[in-house]
Amino acid sequence: MPLNHAHDALTLSVAPMMDWTDSHCRVFHRLLAPHARLYTEMVHAQAVIHGDRDRLLGFDASEHPVALQLGGSDPADLAEASRIAEQWGYDEVNLNVGCPSDRVQAGRFGACLMKEPALVADCIAAMLAAVAIPVTVKCRLGVDEQEDYGAFRDFVDQVAATGCRTFFVHARKAWLQGLSPKENREVPPLRYEWAYQLKRERPQLDIAVNGGITTPEAVHEHLCHSDGVMLGRVAYHEPYVLHQVDAALWQQPLRSRADLLRAFQPYVQSQLDKGVALKHMARHVLGLFHGQPGGRMFRQILSAGAHRADADWRLIEQAIEATDLAAQRLHSESARASTSESAS
Ligand SMILES: Cc1cc2nc3c(=O)[nH]c(=O)nc-3n(C[C@H](O)[C@H](O)[C@H](O)COP(=O)(O)O)c2cc1C
Repeated sequence: MPLNHAHDALTLSVAPMMDWTDSHCRVFHRLLAPHARLYTEMVHAQAVIHGDRDRLLGFDASEHPVALQLGGSDPADLAEASRIAEQWGYDEVNLNVGCPSDRVQAGRFGACLMKEPALVADCIAAMLAAVAIPVTVKCRLGVDEQEDYGAFRDFVDQVAATGCRTFFVHARKAWLQGLSPKENREVPPLRYEWAYQLKRERPQLDIAVNGGITTPEAVHEHLCHSDGVMLGRVAYHEPYVLHQVDAALWQQPLRSRADLLRAFQPYVQSQLDKGVALKHMARHVLGLFHGQPGGRMFRQILSAGAHRADADWRLIEQAIEATDLAAQRLHSESARASTSESAS
């Protein structure tokens, strides 16, 4: 099936995920997906302005291209936070118009802004005026009773009128009352067709699709109708899928899981040397052997051992060896089974 554009920085990205896509995680994802755009966890504009910037904004040079996701709804604050992000070397700033948590609603930002396109447009206009890097939006299809495609397109049109051209569409709406953030990522039905229709009607915009995309085949299908895909949970829970997608899109050979993990060692070691505990890095690799022989043991060894104060890279080697052994055992068992089958 023909793809509708050459692969570029928008083709593949890893979604912003609070508590998950920290800098350690992004360094690991970069090894798996050399071409993907990576997103930080959401940081509120006020925190960027007044908070501990080293902790909130620090990132490793290998993470480029990397985007800072901002939360907020005050144009002046968002402009200031964008300026700071640009100074820190971020390649893009993205405004969160998709998070439905109560805390976020109380602060009047995130998904509830789907009801306030004029305010979002003011925010984006202020951000665009403040920086030279791209300013993008991550949004939903709507919230609560917003049920028609027209309202979604009007939202995008009002925001795009500021000059913003890139929209990441989490292709379901959010319920602001009654559903937890987790349920809001599962219960409202996915309607990819709305994102595709938007791309057809507004071809000058860059539209990336997000939500429920879990296989290289699905990625390929979405790219026939849009400019990009954004992977969230699957990239975290089954990071090898992220590698498979990147390798397939850019026609690169697949690397083994152990190989990819060992490529993470220099970074892990540099962090250990700075006094960062292994558990902060190890937690992001737990799903690497998902579905593989020994995959559960890999996870168990790391989960049990990484919390020890003296845990270091040797624990990870031990976990890799355990999966190797499990794979060998399975291989020789199936060889024995097929020999006895042909003998009988
Ligand atoms: C643990 C977790 C944290 C998330 N945090 C954010 C966030 O900070 N900002 C945001 O825009 N979306 C956030 N999301 C939503 C994801 O970016 C994404 O839109 C959603 O998970 C749907 O994509 P998926 O089905 O590929 O996971 C979060 C999702 C999860 C699972």
